[in-house]
Amino acid sequence: MVDIVPLSSYPSYIDLLPSIQTCNITNLPENYFLKYYLYHALTWPQLSFVAVVRPKNGYSKTTAPDGSKSLVEQYPKVVGYVLAKMEEEPTDGMQHGHITSLSVMRTHRRLGIAERLMRMSQRAMAESHRASYVSLHVRMSNIAALRLYRDTLGFKVEDVESKYYADGEDAYAMRMDLTPMWMDWAAIERKDRERAQSDDKDADEGEEVGELGKKETEQEQEKMVKVKVGRGLGVGDLVEKNEATQGSS
Ligand SMILES: CC(C)(COP(=O)(O)OP(=O)(O)OC[C@H]1O[C@@H](n2cnc3c(N)ncnc32)[C@H](O)[C@@H]1OP(=O)(O)O)[C@@H](O)C(=O)NCCC(=O)NCCS
Repeated sequence: MVDIVPLSSYPSYIDLLPSIQTCNITNLPENYFLKYYLYHALTWPQLSFVAVVRPKNGYSKTTAPDGSKSLVEQYPKVVGYVLAKMEEEPTDGMQHGHITSLSVMRTHRRLGIAERLMRMSQRAMAESHRASYVSLHVRMSNIAALRLYRDTLGFKVEDVESKYYADGEDAYAMRMDLTPMWMDWAAIERKDRERAQSDDKDADEGEEVGELGKKETEQEQEKMVKVKVGRGLGVGDLVEKNEATQGSS
């Protein structure tokens, strides 16, 4: 069973980085220092995903000779990854994502893993960073990847970059529009507000319970003000205000 998870969701994703690096070295000639993986993971934790096979029998406990129990260090096996980022200084001024690297182990190919990794990363770019598009480079001879990008995912060739790779091969520079995946935050906030208003109308504050529930005098009653909640509110709007003490500092 293969799970596809954001790199950031693993309890300690730093542990997985060497396995991702191994997967990259096994499948591609374009390799990177470990710190480059770490930089992606720390800077854009939502955008990179890993395909992992969990240990068959889970994370079993073993008994050491002194009788103490310890967890066996069995990390899930990485069988694929997409390493992605946001372009830090876009020359066209448009906020966009970039696929740094993608690969799937031979043992797990043609199962739809690369397609899922790519779609999940693209969605995260659009939703978390409002990326206008996602770009990538691919060797002109890489038929499998070209089919994946162009035919399955809908990328378009933008340009041919001559001698892009270290061995002199040209690259297709491809990109895909992500604006159709953008979230309509204004509409979501409007719905939140409408829901909060209808909750206010239906609210049942309940009766005072017993002596402790009663307030002594009218002045001593703290006038609690209902607060709005919603994505569009600042911290100040979310603090419950006690109007009885206002102006008496
Ligand atoms: C390219 C690669 C990532 C595809 O991974 P994958 O998990 O096997 O791909 P998927 O199963 O998601 O395939 C999705 C689609 O891509 C295309 N595709 C994938 N592998 C293909 C192949 N060997 N030949 C032709 N088309 C292929 C198909 O259209 C496929 O859809 P289908 O299976 O319904 O026909 C994988 O072959 C790989 O790791 N290659 C080496 C590293 C590499 O080239 N990375 C890309 C660098 S830009």
